[in-house]
Amino acid sequence: MKNATFLVIGGAGYIGSHLVKALIEQHHRVIIVDNLSAGKATAVLGGELIVHDFEDRAFLDQLFQQHQFSGVFHFASQIVVSESVKDPGKYYRANTAATLTLLEALRDHQVGPLVFSSTAAVYGEPLYTPINEQHPTNAVNPYGRSKLMVEQMLADFASAHQQKYIALRYFNAAGADPQARIGEQHDPETHLIPLVLQAITGKRPPLQLFGQDYDTPDGTCIRDYIHVEDLASAHILAMNYLNNGGESGVFNLGNGLGYSVNEVVQTASKVTGEEVPRTYAPRRAGDPARLVADATLAKNTFGWQPQYSDLAEIIQHAWAWELAKN
Ligand SMILES: NC(=O)c1ccc[n+]([C@@H]2O[C@H](COP(=O)([O-])OP(=O)(O)OC[C@H]3O[C@@H](n4cnc5c(N)ncnc54)[C@H](O)[C@@H]3O)[C@@H](O)[C@H]2O)c1
Repeated sequence: MKNATFLVIGGAGYIGSHLVKALIEQHHRVIIVDNLSAGKATAVLGGELIVHDFEDRAFLDQLFQQHQFSGVFHFASQIVVSESVKDPGKYYRANTAATLTLLEALRDHQVGPLVFSSTAAVYGEPLYTPINEQHPTNAVNPYGRSKLMVEQMLADFASAHQQKYIALRYFNAAGADPQARIGEQHDPETHLIPLVLQAITGKRPPLQLFGQDYDTPDGTCIRDYIHVEDLASAHILAMNYLNNGGESGVFNLGNGLGYSVNEVVQTASKVTGEEVPRTYAPRRAGDPARLVADATLAKNTFGWQPQYSDLAEIIQHAWAWELAKN
């Protein structure tokens, strides 16, 4: 598609801001709706930012009357798993109920297609790895269930109202803009790579390394780190695929490569030239030993090919951002 207009909800956040950048680089017009509850206006490198809650139906009605969108990307969400266990209502309201309001507005104004940020958390404790889309979904916390419910709503709206969608189940988003203009900036931060790098800079206390007795080669948990730029490119390919007549569905996004916590720590030491201050703690409840994606379906269906599979390069970009943002 050339010179299309897209809506990016949650586009001032970590992953959404990288998609906005990629859309602008492809000369599209972009409207960003973000309430800046977690995102930053400075992360929006182009387009028009509207600071507003996306679940406001009157606002959405006005937005869809004013603009003709070629598609909508929906990133806005509450994202902290441990908080979702303590306050599930917040997650079902912000992630599930709010998205229902959006789906109804899209239906009534005949706006589409929609690309939705789902998560590997929908799978729960894996029965096998790498995990493909046929793996049973068995989310083990309200965060994962709030996303799984959205996937179910998307499927129901697609069959009842022909609303096209793709739900992308990301594994662990990581890395930053290679030019270090934008990157990860969560508060609270729960993701391993920024926690490692901020332990090095002294911005945070030493890294707590949970569990050394998992059934993995070095005893620490294995995760699939996917570069945020590769996530952005997948969104554009998924949207193009839908706009070219492709079918709705769910797709995993990961490297297919697992790295252990120890490997992340060692690679971060090599990249930065610094030791990672760390303490050792017992396993945390609910952390599976191994989460690795099989993303063959996204590759075969819409031609996605991750560009950054090397962990050192992913950490290098995150480190450059860590230094640039301070
Ligand atoms: N970061 C990861 O590793 C990861 C992994 C799997 C899935 N995801 C999913 O990807 C999406 C983006 O994650 P992220 O890491 O960029 O999170 P983020 O918190 O950086 O971005 C979310 C953005 O949505 C905005 N937002 C939240 N509620 C809103 C509302 N009601 N109205 C308008 N804007 C609102 C926030 O201000 C923020 O800018 C989320 O849906 C998350 O569940 C992320």
